[in-house]
Amino acid sequence: MKPTKIAIIGTGSVGATTAYACIMRNIAAQIMLVDVDEKKCKGEVLDLSDALPFSATSKVEQATFTQAAQADIIIIAAGKPQSPGQKRTELLEINGKIVKSIIEKLNPINPKSVIIVVSNPVDPLTWYTQQLIDLPKNQIIGSGTMLDSQRLRNLIAQRLDIGEQSIHAYIIGEHGDKQVAALSAGNIADVPLYTFIPITELQTMAQEAMRRAYEIIELKNCTCYGVASCVAAICENIIFDTKRIIPVSCFIEEYNLCMSMPATIGANGTEEIIKPPLNATEQKELLISIESIRSNINILKNSL
Ligand code: 2OP
Repeated sequence: MKPTKIAIIGTGSVGATTAYACIMRNIAAQIMLVDVDEKKCKGEVLDLSDALPFSATSKVEQATFTQAAQADIIIIAAGKPQSPGQKRTELLEINGKIVKSIIEKLNPINPKSVIIVVSNPVDPLTWYTQQLIDLPKNQIIGSGTMLDSQRLRNLIAQRLDIGEQSIHAYIIGEHGDKQVAALSAGNIADVPLYTFIPITELQTMAQEAMRRAYEIIELKNCTCYGVASCVAAICENIIFDTKRIIPVSCFIEEYNLCMSMPATIGANGTEEIIKPPLNATEQKELLISIESIRSNINILKNSL
């Protein structure tokens, strides 16, 4: 039987933490790490190897791009992270170049591989990866607003003292300043969220969720645990073909771009895309979100 392999390109704080999160979740037999900074990569491999006795994962190794290209899941977490106060979209050109240079080395790619883009700005870079890699679009997804949705659910869970898993609230669209909280569709046991918490307070919580990354980066210069836990969870749902619905960045035919929508996650990446009903305000916000992503995709189009 072929061991399940996850390759992580980029061993900065997000990539290394994602490797650790995958190891601790016992989801893959082998983890491959790739980084142009080979010394850092080797250090992460040695450090992570000390965690293996506590996991079902049998191997973590430093790999080449060619070896990584044959993995079952390839996570692209390389690139410059946000500086304090910096918008994710300001990283478009530098991280677009990095993602392109990575993809050019991922040859030949495993035709069954699922690619998870984490590098920001994740929506245009997920679209860009879909243009550059000859795989079905459903096999190329971005971590998207899963993290934002979890941040919002956590805030609601703490406010109501209800388990986060029982709170159904999605943030969709751009993983960034123009993200959209589908609050009118949010519910707890099919009871609308706004019967528990006034809509104005929910909107404040959604803003707090959107600002959370800026707040963390201001304090510790990066975020890693939240996004790494989300990416490891996406991997688990792919590997176990769960069909669980998760808001990830994926190709939306109607708008001809990538943005986050709730999608079923299975062995081949995304399957069904489910669009939550939106009220008039949320629909307007989604159009603004779409325009933000489209303007960044247009910049990347010149470098295809
Ligand atoms: C986050 O939202 C920085 O996109 C990353 O934590």
